[in-house]
Amino acid sequence: MKKTENQILVIFGASGDLTARKLVPALFNLFLARQLPENFVVLGASRSDMTDKQFRDKVVLESKYLKHRLEDLKENYIAKFSNQFFYEDLGGDYDTSYNRLRKRIEDLKNKYHTSGNIIYYLSTPPTLYQTIAKNLAEAGLNAQENGWKRLIVEKPFGYSLKTAKVLNSGLQQYFEEHQIYRIDHYLGKETVQNLLVTRFANSIFEPLWNRNYINHVEITNAESVGVEKRGGYYDKSGALRDMFQNHLLQIVSLIVMEPPISDAPEDIRNEKVKALKSLRIMSDDKTLHDQTIRAQYMASTIDGEKVKGYREEDGVDPDSTTETYAAIKFFVDNWRWRDVPFYVRTAKRMPTKVTEVVIHFKTPHHQIFQDAGMNSKDNKLVIRIQPDEGVLIKFGVKVPGQGFKVERANLDFYYSSLAQTHVMEAYERLLLDAMQGDATLYARADEVEAAWEFVDPILEYWKRGDAVRMYGYAAGVWGPENADDLIEGIGFWRNPGPNLTDDPGFCVIC
Ligand code: BG6
Repeated sequence: MKKTENQILVIFGASGDLTARKLVPALFNLFLARQLPENFVVLGASRSDMTDKQFRDKVVLESKYLKHRLEDLKENYIAKFSNQFFYEDLGGDYDTSYNRLRKRIEDLKNKYHTSGNIIYYLSTPPTLYQTIAKNLAEAGLNAQENGWKRLIVEKPFGYSLKTAKVLNSGLQQYFEEHQIYRIDHYLGKETVQNLLVTRFANSIFEPLWNRNYINHVEITNAESVGVEKRGGYYDKSGALRDMFQNHLLQIVSLIVMEPPISDAPEDIRNEKVKALKSLRIMSDDKTLHDQTIRAQYMASTIDGEKVKGYREEDGVDPDSTTETYAAIKFFVDNWRWRDVPFYVRTAKRMPTKVTEVVIHFKTPHHQIFQDAGMNSKDNKLVIRIQPDEGVLIKFGVKVPGQGFKVERANLDFYYSSLAQTHVMEAYERLLLDAMQGDATLYARADEVEAAWEFVDPILEYWKRGDAVRMYGYAAGVWGPENADDLIEGIGFWRNPGPNLTDDPGFCVIC
């Protein structure tokens, strides 16, 4: 276990939901696993007026996200954790002098011997990122002479290529690129990291990982929930910005990338950037028309319960043309992937919550077993990101009896079978990495920009085009009726069930 240096974690926007829901539970897991530094302090900072005690109550002692986990623990053990939390009221505005904040950090550092190492976690609206970075710099809080300083920023990272560039250069005025950690929580998922291991630690896969053996690649990210209470944010964002530009293109980059020289952060990130830059940018209207589908969920009844349509959700414009479903077909311009189509879709209000990658292999070049029923039984590698995390290989076996009839069999691996292993939550893993200065699982500026470069023309086309159709789908089904048109000539989307080995067509009847 790598030792984590003493440090202070300053959370901006600490009174917001993310701190209590994700960050503090992640810190709590690290505390239980004895992974927190020996001398460690969390300083919450935001515009709310709160005392240290009120902050501890809010995010630890009375937090609904920790309630069950604290139940069986001894009081003094819980106190050991909660006493590490402090709070500083920034007053009415983030754009203020941080001299008082600096003084507070200095006092905590001296009292708790945390050293000058500091992480600033920006859990605020993105419009404040640059303001906070500037004020930290003006108060000398970015200086690295007495300990390192790191800045973690949450998504969304930009709204378009242009705004992402402005944001990158805005932050880089005050922090160097190696100090900036852009969080993408999908990279914190074990199963996403396992994409690298599946490819580069198995000589049975890597030789096949190219156009000679792979027919097409399919990625599904489905959520059963709608936009919930985030209608206001979502309506300005949409599925492409909310999920595809970041989480899904990160997954794509891990599938597409060439083998890195080593597992060093920059070796991996260099290959990911190259991968993102090789995605063929769709620039003409015909391609954009033929290779993209957008849709919105409509009112429906799911399990006997009435569900609102997207346009009826709180915070959503009743005439909104924001997509809650996006499906994109694209190609990758390099030797490895020439002519291999990638199909990626993401949506809300689908029948189930599931994220998976399916590598569809080509049928054998020469078919010996004629009439064996091989056609729909090509080999598939299914990498299940969530839930029922695992890996599944589908391969042909002989049906016992005369002749050579082929049936499809499953070879499966489940993470849940690793009973003794604690699988870290995404935020837990990512926070620990940042505390230890490992940026492998954080997005670099050029990665984010390359992803926007690919997405921008699609968004512009969708915005521009009167001819661009917005399809509807009833909440609770697998998208609009024409969703399979995208895969024309190849087949259908594999609509997965909640379990890894469920075959398409599977449904739950309760
Ligand atoms: C977030 C999106 O980044 O990811 C949400 O803003 C989405 O809209 C969420 O629901 C999905 O994350 P997960 O880990 O539940 O798949």
